[in-house]
Amino acid sequence: MVLAAGLGAALSIAAVFPAVADQRTTADAVYTKAQAKKGEKLFKQNCLVCHDKKYFRPVLQVWNGQSVGIFYDMMAGSMPETNPGGMLDREYVDILAYIFSLSKYPVGEEKLDYRGGKLNEIVIFDP
Ligand code: HEC
Repeated sequence: MVLAAGLGAALSIAAVFPAVADQRTTADAVYTKAQAKKGEKLFKQNCLVCHDKKYFRPVLQVWNGQSVGIFYDMMAGSMPETNPGGMLDREYVDILAYIFSLSKYPVGEEKLDYRGGKLNEIVIFDP
């Protein structure tokens, strides 16, 4: 019995590891500096009237451990409050990159990409 339990545990670890290996977080440099710069401009034009720069850090902390894709859908579907969903996907994703930069998430070479469900593969990491 002891042997069987040990084997079971080993098998479940093997089953879990591939998923963990693919999972990236916002600590893995998931947007570029140029993208955040574009996002900053869009943010000033469309969001700053209601949200100052300090608004987003605590929001992301509440979202710690949750999908960037779900956060993105919530944001793009409900904001700006006066025109929900009224901007382009590439504009929302640039704004999201800017919001990440406000929380000092690391910058990388690869752009944050809203296409192909890629945002669902990234988890917000802000403990
Ligand atoms: C006319 C005012 C207004 C504008 C413009 C606006 N927002 Fe909002 N936003 C709100 C209000 C009101 C809420 C909900 C109340 C709250 O949680 O503070 C909210 C909530 C949010 C949230 C959700 C926070 C949470 O608790 O999950 C995010 C993210 C957000 N806004 C991002 C944006 C972005 C990005 C833009 C620009 C594209 C934008 N907002 C433009 C008023 C606005």
